[in-house]
Amino acid sequence: MIAAVSAPARRQPRVLVADDTDTIRALFEKLLTNDGYQVISAVDGIEALDAVSVYHPDVIVTDVGMPGVDGIEVCRRLKRDPSTHLTPVVLVTGLSDLPDRIRGIEAGADDFLTKPVHPQELRARVAALLRMKQLTDALDSAEAAFMALAMTIEARDPTTRGHCERLAHHAVRLGRVLGVSNDDLSALHRGGYLHDVGKVGVPDSVLLKAGPLSATEFAVMKRHTEIGETLCAPLQSLRHVRPIIRSHHERLDGSGYPDGLRADQVPLLAQIVGIVDVYDALTSQRPYRPPLTPDAAVRHLLIEVEQERFSKTLVTAFLDTVDKAQDVITHPGCAFRDAGRGEGYRPK
Ligand SMILES: [Fe+2]
Repeated sequence: MIAAVSAPARRQPRVLVADDTDTIRALFEKLLTNDGYQVISAVDGIEALDAVSVYHPDVIVTDVGMPGVDGIEVCRRLKRDPSTHLTPVVLVTGLSDLPDRIRGIEAGADDFLTKPVHPQELRARVAALLRMKQLTDALDSAEAAFMALAMTIEARDPTTRGHCERLAHHAVRLGRVLGVSNDDLSALHRGGYLHDVGKVGVPDSVLLKAGPLSATEFAVMKRHTEIGETLCAPLQSLRHVRPIIRSHHERLDGSGYPDGLRADQVPLLAQIVGIVDVYDALTSQRPYRPPLTPDAAVRHLLIEVEQERFSKTLVTAFLDTVDKAQDVITHPGCAFRDAGRGEGYRPK
């Protein structure tokens, strides 16, 4: 039984209450409905998970002890799922259930309520977590808008189809091999999608030009790094991604742009995205040439290392991931002209 207790005319905040005891469930429903929430109820863990997928609640209040899938397992599954891991979960436990609380913390629970639950405490906890969820949603929306913008830019150029997705995937893979932190892996994933978001400021006459760019056109193209960084600056959640967006065309010998950084001045995450970007570009179809074979692209990267533009350590680690994952190579097109050194750039 999954019951929507109140049916709103417009989107109210939604709270899912999961408890196998009818009287407790009814009490929570009444209290929260009176506070203006739409309350969804579920009698066990399976119903609770089904209700989450149907109703997308803003806050979940679940008893720990339920038949079948218990509240802690419900919490664990929701926190593992990228689509629900930011939804706050409150676990309701007995007064002396310290082991349950520890398991709940390990499962990612956001808060706890102790039986018997005081009505004011329930209302206060739900209200506080709802405010947190609304802030998270606002951040999610802004990031989603940037992602959509990046996809739109990619769609402007048919030869770059799939480039961002591959870049995100393989930059994260290289980051894992290098042992970077989870925060950095998250930045690499987002950076893969957003690194070229500044191309929104590059006119089609330059972005889609089939042949080599003139010096003036290349100067316009280079500005995408600074435009992208400026666009993302207001978003605190993208602060770790901004160095990738600004510096993914920097090279260790100072020949890159926009700042001509050298050696360790080039942020590590920007170096990772820069290497994967070039490899993906080389092995992609262009209007004026077929894709390079993986071997030829590897030779090119090694020349870049010899000329001290890319880190030998990073390129070696990347080539190791390419060896182990041939799926890196299958794609139809990419921003080759922009990924290398710019105007008239061709692999040796
Ligand atoms: Fe770029």
